[in-house]
Amino acid sequence: MGTRIIGTGSCLPATIVTNDDLAKIMDTSDEWISTRTGIRERHLVKEETTTSMSAEAARRAMENAGVTAEEIDLLIVGTLSADCVTPACACEVQAQIGAVNAVAFDINAACAGFMFALNIANAYLQTGIYKTGLILGAETLSKIMDWNDRSTCVLFGDGAGAAVVRAEEQAGLLAFDQGSDGVKGKVLACRNRSNNNPLMETSKELEYVHMDGQEVYKFAVTAVPHSLQKTIQAAGLTVEDIDYFALHQANIRILQSVAKRLKVSEDKFPISLDHCGNISAASVPILLDEMNRKGMLKAGMKIAMSGFGGGLTWASAVVEW
Ligand code: COA
Repeated sequence: MGTRIIGTGSCLPATIVTNDDLAKIMDTSDEWISTRTGIRERHLVKEETTTSMSAEAARRAMENAGVTAEEIDLLIVGTLSADCVTPACACEVQAQIGAVNAVAFDINAACAGFMFALNIANAYLQTGIYKTGLILGAETLSKIMDWNDRSTCVLFGDGAGAAVVRAEEQAGLLAFDQGSDGVKGKVLACRNRSNNNPLMETSKELEYVHMDGQEVYKFAVTAVPHSLQKTIQAAGLTVEDIDYFALHQANIRILQSVAKRLKVSEDKFPISLDHCGNISAASVPILLDEMNRKGMLKAGMKIAMSGFGGGLTWASAVVEW
């Protein structure tokens, strides 16, 4: 048994915030942001929530795959910004789309969340436990940004992406690599609520994302090419066999560096970060959906995917479309 991606979907909030819009509320500029990151605008939530965007992305993916909600028996959301501590975003999505036969749960692997969800679904599907998975990456990062910290808040956006995966005789997912390095976790972190027990001395400070941008950059440009090379080799392929590299959309300079290290043309690295920014777990599935809907993905093509970020975590996959 193999695992095949049979449909994709995505959903971005209606409100677009350009770099110039940000320059009106903080000391930054379109020039600084776009030259260092490639980001020109991002979508930020007003009314939308992590769950509402996920449910819409899920509906679009199911329609694209030609499956009904009742056929879904596994529903996983990769997120670090769910609306509730409990119930899980996946359970809320299950209720909204009517996936009554699914087991639903969230996982947190930050920007590698969708890729981790894909590998978890693959393990379930390959062992025959479940047959049709709906996997998502979804984030409302704008609510955990420190809007007084211009070095991080300009980088991120909100949105959700989804894919339907199915157990099939012919394998679509050819190889996988995953890893974590908790020792370096502090370079990209966001604490949860503080202790609010009235019997103890407590901090009432709100917690936001903190990032050591240069350390994260160094991690990404080393770990990602290594993980991709390992995965491509495990698939029995060479870098030249890969038609597209659908990577987490953190920063154009990271993508350019990965392309250079792999000795591959940057043309093989499609981007969505220019209009989406970094949407953590949602970046890879949104990019994949954009590629799918533009007709870029043809049967038999080999696509290498990779997610990397907080944890630290990373995961790569090679799929035959
Ligand atoms: N607008 C204008 N100036 C800004 C700014 C902003 N939004 N943010 C920071 N600056 C300033 C800094 O204050 C600093 O000023 P100083 O030299 O007077 O102190 C200057 O720009 C340079 O900052 P620095 O942090 O050295 O820039 P950099 O070249 O390292 O680029 C990042 C910063 C964040 C773009 C870069 O480190 C990066 O891309 N890292 C990876 C981050 C990432 O992708 N994270 C997510 C991974 S999942």
